[in-house]
Formats: sequence, C-alpha cells, structure tokens
Amino acid sequence: MGGRDPWHFVPDNKRVPPQPEPWLAELNKTYTPQCGACHPPLDGEGRHNRWLNLTRPESSRLLNAHLARPAGGMELAGKDHNPPVRIFPDRSDPVYHALWQALEKGKAALLVRPRMDMPGAVPIPQERNFGKVY
Ligand code: HEC
Repeated sequence: MGGRDPWHFVPDNKRVPPQPEPWLAELNKTYTPQCGACHPPLDGEGRHNRWLNLTRPESSRLLNAHLARPAGGMELAGKDHNPPVRIFPDRSDPVYHALWQALEKGKAALLVRPRMDMPGAVPIPQERNFGKVY
C-alpha cells in the first residue's frame, strides 16, 4: 500500500502513512455523506476494489448499483430497506455525476502512475519494515 497501489501514495517517500490519492479524497467527499450511512468507508482493500472500475469508470459497480435500470443500472434497492435506498434516475443526477467525475480522475491518475501489472509501470523504491529499501 502506498508505493504500488493506485489508491494511495506516500508523499516524497517519507515515513508517513499512505495518503489517499486526490481523486480518492474527492470521491470520499461525496461517498462519505451520501453512502456512508449504509456502507463502510472506501478503504482500497478487499471488496471495494470490485466496486471501482478505473479502466471504464462508467462501468463501476459503485455507480451502477443504485442507478435506475432504464439508465443502464442495476437499481439495487434492497427489500423494504429502511431508510429507503435512493435510486439515481439517470446519469445526470448530481451525486452520480460527482462520483463519476472523481472516478474519471482516478482513471487519469492510474494512467500517469500505472500499477505494476500494467505497461509502463515504474517500481517505486520504498522503505519497508524489514529495514531496507526495496
Ligand atoms: C439507505 C441505505 C443505502 C445508502 C444510503 C446507499 N446504499 Fe448502496 N446498498 C444498499 C443496500 C440495501 C444494498 C443491497 C441491495 C440489494 O442487494 O438489493 C446496496 C448495494 C450497493 C452496492 C452493491 C454491493 C455489492 O456487494 O454488490 C453498491 C456498489 C452500493 N450499494 C453503492 C452505494 C453508493 C455508491 C452509495 C452512495 C451514492 C450507496 N450505495 C448508498 C443501501 C444503501
């Protein structure tokens, strides 16, 4: 985390915890108030990797889960969920749009600093707990 994952970075390779990439901070600005009451914070680990599609942001589960079916979404609303789940009527919904724009920035950031499994990736030397720089 921090050197090679696309969600975080370590400023100037300093001994500080990995910081969220600006696009992730922007995503959380909308996600936390809009989604955080029912879903855990986006942590860049485990299941949330499946929610974000940085290759095709518009295909992200994060965007499509609560998007209306006629607009191409899954329209998941749970059964008799209380409070009710708000469905985005279409892609022009301001909350949808804010999340989508942040994911587009995530795509751009990933292309600038590709993951190690992507063409053009550059290893980032990092001090690890084993006491050496790798
Ligand atoms: C009021 C509660 C509530 C809020 C607020 C809410 N959700 Fe959900 N979300 C649910 C429920 C309930 C489900 C499961 C629905 C189902 O399976 O039918 C769900 C499912 C999902 C899923 C699919 C999960 C999976 O494992 O496949 C995603 C992704 C998701 N929500 C993202 C969001 C995002 C992004 C927001 C904010 C824009 C949001 N949710 C806001 C209740 C909520």
